[in-house]
This record gives sequence, C-alpha cells and structure tokens, in this order.
Amino acid sequence: MQKTTVTHLMKMKSEKKKITVLTAYDYAFASLVDASGVDIILVGDSLGNVIQGESSTLPVTMDQMIYHTKMVAKAASHAMVIGDMPFMSYQLNESQALHNAGRFLKEADATAVKLEGGVSVVSLIRRLTDTGIPVQAHIGLTPQSVHQLGGYKIQRDEDRLLADAKAVEEAGAFSVVLEGIPSGIAEKITQRLKIPTIGIGAGVHCDGQVLVLHDMLGLSNRKVPKFVKQYDQLSERISSAIKNYCEEVRSEKFPDADHCYS
Ligand code: KIV
Repeated sequence: MQKTTVTHLMKMKSEKKKITVLTAYDYAFASLVDASGVDIILVGDSLGNVIQGESSTLPVTMDQMIYHTKMVAKAASHAMVIGDMPFMSYQLNESQALHNAGRFLKEADATAVKLEGGVSVVSLIRRLTDTGIPVQAHIGLTPQSVHQLGGYKIQRDEDRLLADAKAVEEAGAFSVVLEGIPSGIAEKITQRLKIPTIGIGAGVHCDGQVLVLHDMLGLSNRKVPKFVKQYDQLSERISSAIKNYCEEVRSEKFPDADHCYS
C-alpha cells in the first residue's frame, strides 16, 4: 500500500472517499493502526489525557511530542504521520513555531504538523507551508483554549467557524480538523472548502473522521464524550487477563511444563 500524501487526501475529497484518522502514541499501537489501513495517524497532544493522566492537554511539552512521534513514525509504512504542536510551542512568535514544527519533520520523521486556531494563525500557517511544512489546521472546540472557551463546549458561531475555515484554507493548510461543532455547520464548511475536513464530534458530512484511539477501544477509564463510539471495551479484557495471570502465579498454575525449560 502506498504512503498517504497530501495529494492523495485532496484526491480522496474530490472522489468523495472518506478519510480515516486515528491517534496513536507508541510503536505497538501505531503498528496495529497502520496495518489496519488507516489513512492518517495523528500523534495528538491528547496523549496528555490518555497516556499521562492529565486533566487537559496543556502540560504536554515539545520534547514529549517528539519522543512519541518518533515511535509512531517508525511503525507507519502506509499512514501519514501528523505531529500535534503542543500548547505554547507555536504561540510565542513565528521563529519559535517554525523551529518546533521543523523538529517534527527533522527529528521525528513526521510528514506534517497540526495546530489549533483559525483566523488568528493564518500568518503562521502561511510561513510554515512556504517553508515546506504541511499544516493541518484545527478549529471549533480547540482543547488548548479550554480556559478561554469556558470549558469543553460545542462551538455554534457559524459565521466565525466559516471565516476560520476559509482563512486556514487560504493560508495553505492541507486539511482542517472540525471539533465539537453542529453537523449542519460542518456540512456547510465541508461543501465550501477545497481541502478535506476531518470531523470529531462534527457529524457524518465531514470528508473524514478522527477519534482518540484509547477512547474508541475502551482502553481508558475516563468518561468519553457523546461523539465517541466505543468499538470495544479493551480495559475490561486486559484487566481480566492480568487478574488471571496473578491468580495462576499465586496458585502455581503458571509456569506449567509448556512454559519451562527441562
Ligand atoms: O490531540 C488530539 O488527539 C486531537 C484530535 C482529537 C483531533 O487533537
């Protein structure tokens, strides 16, 4: 299977083929995601929530993102790998942002970066794309602005969302994540943009969908938002396997003859 590129994604939009995106944060899971045929692996700063146990994505650092993105990129032979720029890694000034975005490509072998914001980040998107760094934008419910938004709330200001979407497209973003917005608004944005929209809590009309891997697999104990469909409850199955192991060690059922050297 060929590696996903920005041109493939544009073609998929024009052919109305849905784009599949999942997050991953390490080699083991990224290998499974890649082998399952997902088009894009996003190394999201959601790792703050599902890997580090933080209550938001705000504490995640650049060095942590590079560490995780490197592991994922080693596993991805088909999927495009996108590194998520963490909070305060692109807000100080464009030189800082350029330096950090470049690290994802130079040090971690990512193909592209994602950053949050609409009209407010157009100049930065232009600078990065002019430098040869593909950018995925992220508008709507932007978790790095949780305090500014007053919580993880659905965003309903249609004019603002349309303006943000148009602005990031014009600035050169190759796609845009639409998070936590009503389906009708996401549909309008998707129709008006030439670049693919990737929805999370934004309805079925987006050009593609993204979910946090640990949420959709039922791997974490955290309460998942309404828009997450859980395709399994792996945490229950993993707990049961571990309890089984402990019981067998305690009762000397393991290791049995099959698992010993004579
Ligand atoms: O950090 C992340 O995983 C994300 C996606 C949920 C879009 O930003």
